[in-house]
Amino acid sequence: MGKKVTVVGAGFYGSTTAQRLAEYDVFETVVLTDIIEGKPEGLALDLNQSRPIEGFETKVVGATTGPNGEGYEAIEGSDVVVITAGLPRKPGMSRMDLLGVNAKIVRQVAENVAKYAPNAVVVVVSNPLDEMTALAQIATAFPKNRVLGQAGVLDTARFTNFVAETLGVPVKSVKTLTLGSHGDTMVPVPSQCTVDGKPLSELLPAEKIEELVTRTRNGGAEVVALLKTGSAYYAPSAAAARMAKAIAEDSGEVWPVCAWVDGEYGISGVYLGVLAELGATGVRKVVETPLTDAELASLKEAAEAVRAKQADVADL
Ligand SMILES: NC(=O)c1ccc[n+]([C@@H]2O[C@H](COP(=O)([O-])OP(=O)(O)OC[C@H]3O[C@@H](n4cnc5c(N)ncnc54)[C@H](O)[C@@H]3O)[C@@H](O)[C@H]2O)c1
Repeated sequence: MGKKVTVVGAGFYGSTTAQRLAEYDVFETVVLTDIIEGKPEGLALDLNQSRPIEGFETKVVGATTGPNGEGYEAIEGSDVVVITAGLPRKPGMSRMDLLGVNAKIVRQVAENVAKYAPNAVVVVVSNPLDEMTALAQIATAFPKNRVLGQAGVLDTARFTNFVAETLGVPVKSVKTLTLGSHGDTMVPVPSQCTVDGKPLSELLPAEKIEELVTRTRNGGAEVVALLKTGSAYYAPSAAAARMAKAIAEDSGEVWPVCAWVDGEYGISGVYLGVLAELGATGVRKVVETPLTDAELASLKEAAEAVRAKQADVADL
């Protein structure tokens, strides 16, 4: 049977994710939902009309949903559900400023996902990411491997892009890594960064690497400040769509994602940005990568910061 993926929230992030997923042409159906009546149906109609031009057969279905599960029949049988519902940041806001309002939205969405797509793998993107991922797991009561969050694929892509631009090399020759949280305690891992296999530290002075690390950490805010309304969505949607594809195809690809950590790196019981092998079961396993002592200390610090915030989400 063909694969089915649902994107909840038809805003900038959700609609571009649906477009990318449809254009991959590997799913039978992409469902796009929103609470704004007619918006997901209109976008689906528009996307379907691009099929002859872009040459894909995937069918996009739009569905308006209500707070009591109205319209959620459309997501039945989904293999993957990407949750993008929720407010984005405004200039000057931190991701944590969205906690209260987005928690209500994500909880309500997650409860309906559990009811209508009980076998799906859930990829959360709503912010604050680490907290919303933990909340979605609690609200769905799905096994922890079946709920994960998107942050590291995006943060890593930003870091890679900055390094490639700085050195004037193709992005494909650059490999970077960020772990930790999607926020202030993001942990870029320069020791794992290479350009054509050469350590980044041999190509750029430490201060320049630090400057790119800082720009990566503030990568989302830099876009928000320029846009003035709304937040980034081209790179974020690419990240979530690739994860959904890896899961649907049971590919075993290893990506940095927000996953439940249970003993790896000496850290337990928290959703945290780590490398993970993705497949049909969601996170097949967390993959430990060699870290310097300083990087490991930063990762542990990030884990404790996120743990403190995630402890409260059950009550939201
Ligand atoms: N994880 C990341 O890396 C990352 C990156 C960028 C943005 N984000 C986050 O993604 C979220 C979406 O961003 P955006 O730019 O698409 O915002 P947006 O305002 O364009 O779209 C959000 C959509 O969610 C819908 N929505 C609200 N409540 C809903 C519900 N209960 N059910 C279904 N849909 C609902 C809204 O009607 C709106 O269309 C934000 O929280 C943003 O902070 C995360």
